[in-house]
Amino acid sequence: MIDTHTHINMIEGITIDEILKIAKENYVDKLIVPAANPKDFKDIVELINKYDNVYGMLGVHPSDAKDWNDNLIDEIKTLAENKKIVAIGEIGLDYYWDKSFNELQKEIFIKQIKLANELNLPIDVHDREAHKDTFDILKEYNTGSKVIMHCFSGSVEFAKECIKEGWYLGIGGVVTFKNAIKMKEVVQSVPLEHILLETDAPYLTPVPFRGTENQPAYVKFAAEEIAKLRGTTFEEVNNITTTNAERVFVL
Ligand code: NI
Repeated sequence: MIDTHTHINMIEGITIDEILKIAKENYVDKLIVPAANPKDFKDIVELINKYDNVYGMLGVHPSDAKDWNDNLIDEIKTLAENKKIVAIGEIGLDYYWDKSFNELQKEIFIKQIKLANELNLPIDVHDREAHKDTFDILKEYNTGSKVIMHCFSGSVEFAKECIKEGWYLGIGGVVTFKNAIKMKEVVQSVPLEHILLETDAPYLTPVPFRGTENQPAYVKFAAEEIAKLRGTTFEEVNNITTTNAERVFVL
């Protein structure tokens, strides 16, 4: 499996070597580490240079939009000469935490979409309670980058709209939560060919470890739940989602 969105640089309880060893024991072959803040760039470059099976993304999270400056465009372009930088992310809109700078979030999102297009890299999208604006901005500005709706949290209807655009849905631990009715419906309603597995570690830990720190090894719990919901096998979910990830990212 490939954990397509995992902040291993933010996991505190265990070392990176241990994280990767446990991941391997649990069939996770490759991991992609997104940036949230420009401060993460250094960590990500170090990780991808040190570990063969770790890849990175660069971008500024909407909640950190105030940390954006236009010099980052050249910095990202330079760092992305490393072929293990495989996407721009995580970028998007977050109207959940703080609505006071929505317009700034939009502006920074658009700049980074244009950068992804220029670099011909996929876009890993953070959309929290901002479905309509996120969709509209991507429709208007994205000129050909593949799109992943990381930690997808919309309705079945919204999922189908995204898939009509050819986008992918990142599905993780939330699907294992008993009360995640909408998420379970989404997973049953969309083609498996549009699903990517992710953990978003250290956040969103799946059942049965909910309440503890998440890690890439736990991506299997999302895969098992997806298999159960779709009446298929873990192996099929593993195979198809891995193929999907290899189609989206150059790994
Ligand atoms: Ni994340």
